[in-house]
Amino acid sequence: MKGRRGGATGDLFGSAPPAGAGAEPLAEGATILRRFAEAAAPALVEAIERVVAAAPFRHMVTPGGYTMSIAMTNCGRLGWVTDRSGYRYTTTDPTTRRPWPALPAVFRDVATRAAAAAGFAEFEPDACLINRYEPRARLSLHQDRNERDFSAPIVSVSLGLRAVFLFGGARRQDRPRRIRLESGDVVVWGGPTRLAFHGVAPLPDGEHPLTGRHRINLTFRKAG
Ligand code: SIN
Ligand code: FE2
Repeated sequence: MKGRRGGATGDLFGSAPPAGAGAEPLAEGATILRRFAEAAAPALVEAIERVVAAAPFRHMVTPGGYTMSIAMTNCGRLGWVTDRSGYRYTTTDPTTRRPWPALPAVFRDVATRAAAAAGFAEFEPDACLINRYEPRARLSLHQDRNERDFSAPIVSVSLGLRAVFLFGGARRQDRPRRIRLESGDVVVWGGPTRLAFHGVAPLPDGEHPLTGRHRINLTFRKAG
């Protein structure tokens, strides 16, 4: 199967290298790379500030009419949005009516290296959703399924305050595992777990030198 980790599944012909040191298997096709983005974190935060200057954070509304507790923006060719009419990817920011800011080079670099370290050597993200959590903000269990092609993984980079990431199964009612994520941790999921339900528990209060009273999460996708 394309994108599946070679070593862990015993696939002798897989071209993907086995995940490296710091890699922690989470489920089939899913890997935690502890502190993988720690060195790049200050550059990532600077790049986020530049993106946000052009495409500000906003609280989007779900199709059901709820205002999300996390603030969002995007960069890359495509950006994920939700409003009363549904979830979708757009090429322009509905707030500014301009194209989403380009994917910063440091974003692409971290995302492609993390994907490769988790066994997805050919990942080419065209979308990055930037989520900002303040204390008590949460993200309920959901699947990432607005992308056109599920053969590419999701690469998720955590910055700032720690959070409990919920990683469930193929069905909403599968009880999720609770994984503590710290600044610099990266989670990659794809292949058999590409459509796993996942979410984030209410954010505990705190203060982080990089982000203050926030957690920022980047999710890289191949959306188009
Ligand atoms: C997401 O599912 O889009 C974000 C996950 C996270 O914030 O860790
Ligand atoms: Fe998600």
